[in-house]
Amino acid sequence: TIAELDALEILDSRGRPTVEARITLSDGRAVRASVPSGASTGRHEAVERRDGDPARYGGRGVRGAVAAIEGEIAAALIGREPEQRAVDAVLRELDGTQDKSRLGANAILAVSLATARAAALAAGQPLWRHLARGGEVTLPRPMVNILSGGLHAGRQLDFQDFLVIPVAAERFGDALEAVVAVHAAMGELLAERGLVTLKADEGGYGPALADHREALRLLDEAVLRAGFALGEEVAYALDVAATHFHDPASGSYRLASEGRTLDPAELTAYVAELADEHPIVSVEDPLAEDDWPAWAGLTARLGSRLQVIGDDLFTTSLDRLERGIAERSANAVLVKMNQIGTISETVDVVSRARAAGFTTVISARSGETEDPVLADLAVGLAGGQIKIGSVTQSERLAKYNRLLRIERELGDAAQLAPPLALSRLSG
Ligand code: PGA
Ligand code: ZN
Repeated sequence: TIAELDALEILDSRGRPTVEARITLSDGRAVRASVPSGASTGRHEAVERRDGDPARYGGRGVRGAVAAIEGEIAAALIGREPEQRAVDAVLRELDGTQDKSRLGANAILAVSLATARAAALAAGQPLWRHLARGGEVTLPRPMVNILSGGLHAGRQLDFQDFLVIPVAAERFGDALEAVVAVHAAMGELLAERGLVTLKADEGGYGPALADHREALRLLDEAVLRAGFALGEEVAYALDVAATHFHDPASGSYRLASEGRTLDPAELTAYVAELADEHPIVSVEDPLAEDDWPAWAGLTARLGSRLQVIGDDLFTTSLDRLERGIAERSANAVLVKMNQIGTISETVDVVSRARAAGFTTVISARSGETEDPVLADLAVGLAGGQIKIGSVTQSERLAKYNRLLRIERELGDAAQLAPPLALSRLSG
């Protein structure tokens, strides 16, 4: 039984306030959970509650969300069992809004996550096993940021992430090792060329490059220098994050780094060209969050050879995913718990995606805490793929290291999810 619920304003990896919740069970044992925060957020995400008091943290304080947990939410949950569906339903009803803006999605998710931990503790199980509910568990194949642009790197490039997928690795530990080698090779290459090796928000490099093709050429060189075969051993993913350079008034996409403006068909053609030139197997948010017809066009054209992931498009919302399934807007969904605000709703999105033949990528945010919960979620839901950012910075490593521990704990039963079976992609 939940005996106490309290909360704390802590700091995330950008040094901005975020919410941590703590549940104390009636036997005196306690668990904590904290929530991440995005920068390139979608318009349809659940709403983080911020104080807006300019005298504290530039208005980003979360004392109101903390007070909501310790007040209204505690009053509603104390004395209840930590049962996920029931607790999440109470949280949603108590909030009463579509976008969770009254109590705050940050307050709600912190409590939802702490509830999962409390239930796992009460059941004497690791969280990933508890979340699996007796179903299949797999280690997720990582998709890892090497070069950053967009809002995470001062808009040096328009596209937000250039990521690598270790497609040949058969163990999670080997997958991570391959990525670290590519990351190190990229660091050497940039230094040799006198390019800055400063890190962006997720720990990827954010150099000033001429254009997107130069970024991909550098990635080819780094992969080869690290000793891997292009495409066979290491493939690429792009997070275009196109919402953030889309002009809704004209409907066009402004590539500032290349000094040109593209319409949706031209941007689609550009992505197709890049995928012809480099071993790209996955593309996220290649179009803007409300450009539905263009998404369907892109997926019809590229969906049989690329994983087409909706992040800002779907914002982990079942309603938006249903539309995307009906319209064949994509063939994959990025899953970010704080876009929707509860674990139950996240689980429902993953189940629905799978039933429709969509792949899933369990994702961190650009602002993270040291909470490793994402690793447990990816394993417990057999999410298939995980996107955490780069392989530096402890808020990222907390998750990677947790996955290494889970892999060891599973021993011979540990299965790394297979690389994308492109023939199986719907589109
Ligand atoms: P965000 O970026 O956490 O800043 O939204 C991550 C992403 O776009 O995938
Ligand atoms: Zn994204």
